[in-house]
Amino acid sequence: MKRLSLLAYVVGGLFFLVSFAFSVFYGYKVLTHDLSAEGGTVEKYNYHFVLVTEELDNAYWRLVEKGAQAAAKEYGVFLEYSGPKQADIDEHLKTIEMAFASKVDGILTQGLSDEQFTPLINRVVEKLPVITVDTDAANSNRMAYIGTDNYYSGYLAGKALIADTKGQANVAIITGNFYANHQLLRVEGFKDAVKAETGIKIITVEKSGISRVRAAEKAYKILKDYPEVNAFYGTSALDGIGIAQVVDKVIKSGPVYIIGFDTLPETLEYIRKGTINATVVQEPYEMGYRAVKMMIDLIEGKKVPPVVHTDTRIMRSEDLPENNQDEWEAHR
Ligand code: BGC
Repeated sequence: MKRLSLLAYVVGGLFFLVSFAFSVFYGYKVLTHDLSAEGGTVEKYNYHFVLVTEELDNAYWRLVEKGAQAAAKEYGVFLEYSGPKQADIDEHLKTIEMAFASKVDGILTQGLSDEQFTPLINRVVEKLPVITVDTDAANSNRMAYIGTDNYYSGYLAGKALIADTKGQANVAIITGNFYANHQLLRVEGFKDAVKAETGIKIITVEKSGISRVRAAEKAYKILKDYPEVNAFYGTSALDGIGIAQVVDKVIKSGPVYIIGFDTLPETLEYIRKGTINATVVQEPYEMGYRAVKMMIDLIEGKKVPPVVHTDTRIMRSEDLPENNQDEWEAHR
């Protein structure tokens, strides 16, 4: 009997020890588990930035985001991607206000228009660093700009059109918006490039409001109202695609030349088909990536150049990335 109760004590004691060890072990794990490893919740980050874009689900802006997120991951930044669902200047401004109120460490945004963006940026920058991306509000106190030299890219487009049409074209321009700094510069650069060419005439300049459907509607109307138009220049990522959709379907007596902007998959498809003749290449991934790095450098007191221009060039069918698709797409 005595032996039996001793055994019971030993077994009971062992049971207690084992369960105690288990509860200590798992209790410790629950307290120290890494939330970020479970996906989504960023528990440990050095900075919190917001990237405010013109249009959230625009494929061009998704590439800017992709680059920014890559840098964010590398440097321990919590990066929020925010903006209007569809291009809308008031909502864009409101989103910046909200980011400002939520006390993030830095704001990355376009400097879309001088009238609305400059006073807001100037107010924000008194408390928080602001970097403009893709579109500069050069007259504001933003701390730096990274993106295409928009005037130069328009100038390149003009020179490409002259070369490709042998200096003979009646051109219609479809641009994103008349208030947007980068769109204005892309039109201005183009006009300057063609101004000495007597055979190039600019027939009309219309806006698409950053909408492929509206770009297509405008292209259709232009072809009807101005039968002499035989060339288009689309100055934002969806304009060339909208124009090409129409030109592809409308029967014209002669060929219509199209030069667009950016290298979204549909644009490349239209270049393969021969509907779009050329496009202006931008580097959205790189803009996003470097913007995050520049913001960190600013906060950490390092020297950052006030203007950083990413690469821009003309792409025609012979420059298509067929030979190195994977590498090319990963970066654009
Ligand atoms: C511009 C962006 C714009 C986008 C619209 C791009 O060419 O750089 O600012 O939001 O087109 O589709």
